[in-house]
Amino acid sequence: QPTFRIAPSILSANFAKLGEEVQNVIAAGADIIHFDVMDNHYVPNLTIGPMICEAIRPCTDALIDVHLMVKPVDRIIPDFAKAGANIITFHPEASEHIDRSLGLIREQGCKAGLVFNPATPLHYLDHVMDKLDMILLMSVNPGFGGQKFIPGTLDKLREARRRIDEYTAKTGREIWLEIDGGVKVDNIAEIARAGADTFVAGSAIYNTPDYKATIDAMRAELAK
Ligand code: DX5
Ligand code: ZN
Repeated sequence: QPTFRIAPSILSANFAKLGEEVQNVIAAGADIIHFDVMDNHYVPNLTIGPMICEAIRPCTDALIDVHLMVKPVDRIIPDFAKAGANIITFHPEASEHIDRSLGLIREQGCKAGLVFNPATPLHYLDHVMDKLDMILLMSVNPGFGGQKFIPGTLDKLREARRRIDEYTAKTGREIWLEIDGGVKVDNIAEIARAGADTFVAGSAIYNTPDYKATIDAMRAELAK
């Protein structure tokens, strides 16, 4: 069995008690905190920035996975690194210089990743595999929680998995494959079979009354 990681998106948490919401999902068995940053420019919604990252940092030892849906990308990277982010990912369309942005993230001591919208081709991976720690495939169009999983993403996951496995066989270096959008208890097993190892779930976890029951149910599906 590969290692599977569950990453609740705090986009669907109760922001009036965000610190507790972070602690509660980790206590319920989650692995990573997924942190969605939207700027009302690259995507049509506005969420949270480095100040909130800094505020929740003392609440947990878990990795904070910052998903940047902002344009431009570069000038906000050091702010998130200082705020305690562990992983920073961005959309290639939002950066003029993808290689430079990836390098900047690593220079700041964070793991770096690229995010692919449903219609963004994987060829952006061609010359940057050495600079990546994570590949994030969007299974919805970015901007909002609670959308439906786009089934075509499964083929793309298989293709990304093939590229990663080939790269790992050659270099011995691991790259995580994360999926984001519409992940639920009833589709997580199929998504895992297509190659994902890290699962973002916002509404599927935070909109249920018992986080542990939901995360346990996800793990049971993953163990099948
Ligand atoms: C969408 C965000 C996702 C979102 C996922 O732009 O990147 O992380 O919060 O929410 P669910 O799991 O509800 O689809
Ligand atoms: Zn996200």
